[in-house]
Amino acid sequence: MELALYCPDCGYYEKENDTIGRRGDFYTSVSVGRLFGELLAFQFAAWLDAPRAHSIEPLGSPRQLVEAGAHHGHLARDILTWLRNQRPTLCEQLEYWILEPSAGRRAKQAETLWEFAGTICWAGSFSELAARLHQAAPSATSVRGIIFANELLDAFPVHRLGWDAKRFEWFEWGVAWRAGRFVWVRLSALLPASGLSPFAAPELLTVLPDGFTTESCPAATTWWREAANLLQQGRLLTFDYGLNAEEFLAPHRANGTLRAYHHHRYADDVLAQPGEQDLTAHVNFTALQAAGETAGLLTEAAQTQSQFLTGITQRAWAAGSGFGAWSSDRTRQFQTLTHPEHLGRAFRVLVQAR
Ligand SMILES: C[S@@+](CC[C@H](N)C(=O)[O-])C[C@H]1O[C@@H](n2cnc3c(N)ncnc32)[C@H](O)[C@@H]1O
Repeated sequence: MELALYCPDCGYYEKENDTIGRRGDFYTSVSVGRLFGELLAFQFAAWLDAPRAHSIEPLGSPRQLVEAGAHHGHLARDILTWLRNQRPTLCEQLEYWILEPSAGRRAKQAETLWEFAGTICWAGSFSELAARLHQAAPSATSVRGIIFANELLDAFPVHRLGWDAKRFEWFEWGVAWRAGRFVWVRLSALLPASGLSPFAAPELLTVLPDGFTTESCPAATTWWREAANLLQQGRLLTFDYGLNAEEFLAPHRANGTLRAYHHHRYADDVLAQPGEQDLTAHVNFTALQAAGETAGLLTEAAQTQSQFLTGITQRAWAAGSGFGAWSSDRTRQFQTLTHPEHLGRAFRVLVQAR
């Protein structure tokens, strides 16, 4: 899955063609229009002004916005354009970091974001980001501001697991090459990294049918833990296709949540056409929340995208001209972002604070 999505030569996300948006394989909240970024910018500005509800001391300068996995750079453009127009002083005090391991993507993002060249910095990993912050100010090794991602963790590589009811244990599905195609093969032993603890509730396992399939994504939990540890003060948030731990074990998810998309359609075979189709699996929000809380963060919101964006929109309306005129185009975008049949229910949001 990692190679199919991120291989520098043939990975799906390394391709130049238009995979996201109306002509591509899937819509994201960013491809719907600029409103998603504008609402986030409004919320980020409020958080940066008053970092915790009861805090009396605003964050000092410099303050960082850290976006992970910026792909085209469109979300960064939408957020920074709104901040520059509506909150110019705050915008001047900001450092906008893009966390992006792909050199090809970094170059594309720089093209999209040429207007903001003085504001944006890139880092390939959390450790590089920490080192660069420390280089700039020896007393700072961590982020004061907001670390966020949109649809990043649901495109991290997963382990695919099956339930052996007779032996009362999980086994792992591997991928092999047979007769000219990729096929699933049952592995004899679990890989140690497959991180099954979120599914360990014994009362659920006693009724789980033989062969029940699901996924585990230790890479997402590790990523969240690293982000939490890097956050000195501020917020950590993500938007993803996702579920709570118990919801993964619902009867209608007996085949798991791993999906392939090609031209806006489910593709039947996730192993077919590697590099040509998008692959995604639901994020385990229970595991992320626990990882953040173990790292000392406080959970502020665990809700649907619809609930989260509707709350921001109410505050933006109350702010009147502080958000910008509410056009019919914004209304249309709001409906797509929040309607349960579009992007409102399938996407969930986790916000944690320190
Ligand atoms: C699924 S897209 C993210 C979608 C994008 N945020 C949007 O809203 O359209 C994947 C992006 O994440 C980047 N990426 C992959 N692994 C990453 C990691 N460990 N940290 C940060 N970015 C990563 C990819 O290079 C690519 O730019």
